[in-house]
Amino acid sequence: MKIGILSSGGDCPGINATIRGVGKAAMTYGMEVLGILDGFSGLIFHDFIELDEQHLSGILTLGGTILGTSREKPFKKKGGDMIADKPQLIKQNYDKMGIDCLVCIGGNGTQKTAAQLSEIGLNVVGIPKTIDNDVWGTDVTFGFDTAVNIATEAIDRLHSTANSHKRIMVIELMGHNAGWITLYAGVAGGGDVILIPEREYNIEKVNEVLLERAHKGKPYSIVVVAEGIKTGKKEGVRAGEYIAEQIEKETKIETRVTVPGYTLRGGSPSPVDRVLATRMGTYAASMIHNGEYGKMVAVRNDEMVSIPLKETGGKTRLVPQDHFLLKQAKRVGTFFG
Ligand code: F6P
Repeated sequence: MKIGILSSGGDCPGINATIRGVGKAAMTYGMEVLGILDGFSGLIFHDFIELDEQHLSGILTLGGTILGTSREKPFKKKGGDMIADKPQLIKQNYDKMGIDCLVCIGGNGTQKTAAQLSEIGLNVVGIPKTIDNDVWGTDVTFGFDTAVNIATEAIDRLHSTANSHKRIMVIELMGHNAGWITLYAGVAGGGDVILIPEREYNIEKVNEVLLERAHKGKPYSIVVVAEGIKTGKKEGVRAGEYIAEQIEKETKIETRVTVPGYTLRGGSPSPVDRVLATRMGTYAASMIHNGEYGKMVAVRNDEMVSIPLKETGGKTRLVPQDHFLLKQAKRVGTFFG
């Protein structure tokens, strides 16, 4: 048997650990392993490398993806029709490469494409990947824990400088339309105010809370905002900038913004993500060995399971209104807007 592995969408720590998990386990089943380059583009342009033990050693701790990635969406239509017949081209190259199963490592967009490829007859297994932790169907995605660690470290460092200058520090975190990174890093970093896209906020109330803290003698405040929150009418203004502007204008307290941005996606995966990536990768290989196609690997209550791609493809998992961490953080005085 021959498998083809690709990584697609935003990169994150843990992709190489996953490639290693799939590849090494597949080789124990006697499978050949191809690495398809730059996501689905590699399938369109027949761009791949043969992966051997050599390629797979020393990459457990390596950030990024040795295969490269892209945001290619082969089924995406422009103005009604498809740009060339990319899916057919993919099918031809899949056959030409002699692939028996395609492993797609990616977020909800990638899993949607994986489901569509499965529908046109390719054998496909999906592995959820993203720092955003917003892939429907799995409790967690690798990349998330590392991003929370990096973001928490940034927030920790803001406390001392905020204290020295008696400032309000706003930090804007990635997460696309989900607030998972902001919620978890905000709580871990002791954020006083945490704003996530899933919860409406009232900037007047935010300012009241911040002024009240100042009147109570708190020397500084930390405000953690998700990049995906609504920023009023001001299109194109970054969330952090918008919130900082509104705070300083109203409270008259000096306010500064920090945006860690892509550092949340950089560098070596955390031990938690290395373990999760290894579990997901090896589980995917066992699914292929058992001929379990058209499914995505998922973790539920710390058990590895597989769910139909058509169930999850493209769906986003957002922070529910009644999430336990929202309740528990409020008990230590965190304000969610
Ligand atoms: O999906 C991961 C992510 O980092 C999001 O959090 C962020 O909004 C987006 O990718 C950025 O996209 P790009 O890498 O294309 O700039």
